[in-house]
Order: sequence, then structure tokens, then C-alpha cells
Amino acid sequence: MSYRRIAVAGKGGTGKTSLTGMLIDFLIQAGKGPVLAVDADPNSNLNEVLGMEADETIGDVREQVNWAEREGNVIPGGMSKTDFFKLRLNQAVLEGDGYDMLVMGRSQGEGCYCYVNGILKNQLEILSDNYNHVIIDNEAGLEHLSRGSMGKIDLLLLISDYSHRSIQAAGRVKVLAEELKMNIPKMGLIVNKAPEGKLTESILEEIQRQELELIGVIPLDSNVFDYDSTGKPLVQLPEDSPAKVALKDIMKKLQII
Ligand SMILES: Nc1ncnc2c1ncn2[C@@H]1O[C@H](COP(=O)(O)OP(=O)(O)OP(=O)(O)O)[C@@H](O)[C@H]1O
Ligand SMILES: [Mg+2]
Repeated sequence: MSYRRIAVAGKGGTGKTSLTGMLIDFLIQAGKGPVLAVDADPNSNLNEVLGMEADETIGDVREQVNWAEREGNVIPGGMSKTDFFKLRLNQAVLEGDGYDMLVMGRSQGEGCYCYVNGILKNQLEILSDNYNHVIIDNEAGLEHLSRGSMGKIDLLLLISDYSHRSIQAAGRVKVLAEELKMNIPKMGLIVNKAPEGKLTESILEEIQRQELELIGVIPLDSNVFDYDSTGKPLVQLPEDSPAKVALKDIMKKLQII
């Protein structure tokens, strides 16, 4: 099984964006690119982990197109609304070093978005065919996942920290994915920020209660904290940083890199 389209989800603040950024970097370093990184969080910051500037979001484009007809002069003459939207979506793909990035931004304003959402979904499907991997960093609320706007997912990485509540949250995401019949071939739990990379009996019991498959543990790593508190891109972490080493091992085990 090759996991081409990977989504990352879990409770707020558990480390989804940090780990997604590192995963994208591993894929590029391993020559597994090109990668399409999708930042599906309205409070987007995946670009910062990767050290990239992000200006325009899909939400901005969608907003613009949705109101274009009202404002009259936004769509160039002779172009249909659909073609204009597709053009603007392509322009919103940010180019990084070895990867491209789409920032979803805020999702809904006033008015009906069904029409533009439909096109967005199609265009994402078409666009993602150009990449070896599509990696999606979700917001804690899972809006895009649950609306299916990201298309098919091959691997869902559930990220939790070292607490019962966030393992329970990961359990709920798994149940939601099942209820929505997303048919995700593999869903696994990664416990992040574990002191010395170890889990207690009680945490292990909670994982069992939630019927989650534990695929790896990542230690609490002061380097991650240092880089984030000084605004340095996490992809520049030293290779021997404990969190980086642990995530790399997990990705190798899953045969992703
Ligand atoms: N292994 C780790 N060791 C130490 N700190 C970590 C580790 N992983 C993440 N962090 C810290 O946890 C905080 C939250 O990380 P991050 O923003 O990646 O989480 P998130 O799940 O994407 O959050 P949100 O739900 O707000 O999008 C950050 O300050 C980050 O530096
Ligand atoms: Mg995040």
C-alpha cells in the first residue's frame, strides 16, 4: 500500500502542523516529491513551519469569485465564471522548494458557496494528479475532511499529545471518518510530546479503549519549542533532534520514505 494522500488531524495544539511540515520536508529530502501541501486550517501557519511566505488563500479566491458577478467588473470580458475561478485557483498555488502549497484560508462568508465548492473539489482532484504526494494539515474542527472537499485519503494520521482528552479526541475523529464512510484504508495514532518518548499504562489503556492503532510516539523536544519561540522554520531543526528522529522512524516504518 502506498500512501499517496495523507491527512493529519487531531485536537488543537497537539502538533499537527509541526509534524506535517517535517513530513513534507522528509518526502522532499527522500526524493519522493513533488509534494502538494494543503493547509486546510483557517488560522493557517503551515507555511511558517516550512519557511514560506503565503499571501493568497483559496478562501480569498472563492470569496472574490462568488461576489464577482455582483460587482460586475472582476471577471475579464469573455471569460465564464467557472473558467475565471479555475484560473484564479491555479494562480493561488504557491511554489516552494520541491513542493507546492495551497492555503485554504477561511471557508465561508455570506451567500451560497455550493457552486464554487463543487468546482474547488474538482480542481483539487485534477491538480493533485500532478503530485506524488498530497499532504493535508487539517484544523482541529475537521471541516474540510468532513465535507469531503479534499477527496480520497489513503492515510489519516491522528495526532494526540500526552493526555487522555486528546487521545479521546483522536478516537472521535476516527469514529467520524467511519461514520462519514470516508473509506480510509489506514488510520493510526501518533502520540506527540511524550516525556522521553514513553507512554504510561494509563495512556496505553486509553488508546485501547478508543480502539486506536498506535503507530508511533514522538518525544517532547525542547528544540521544537526553541525554534517555534524564535520563529525559526521547524524544517531547519538539526537532523538529530529527538522529535525529528522519531517522526522519521515512523515514516520509514510506514514505508512513506
Ligand atoms: N515534539 C514536540 N516537542 C515539543 N513541542 C512541540 C512538539 N510538537 C509540537 N510542539 C509545540 O506544540 C505547539 C503546537 O504545535 P502545532 O502548532 O504544530 O499544533 P497544531 O496541532 O497544528 O495546533 P492547531 O490545532 O492550533 O493548528 C507548538 O508550540 C509547537 O512548538
Ligand atoms: Mg495547526
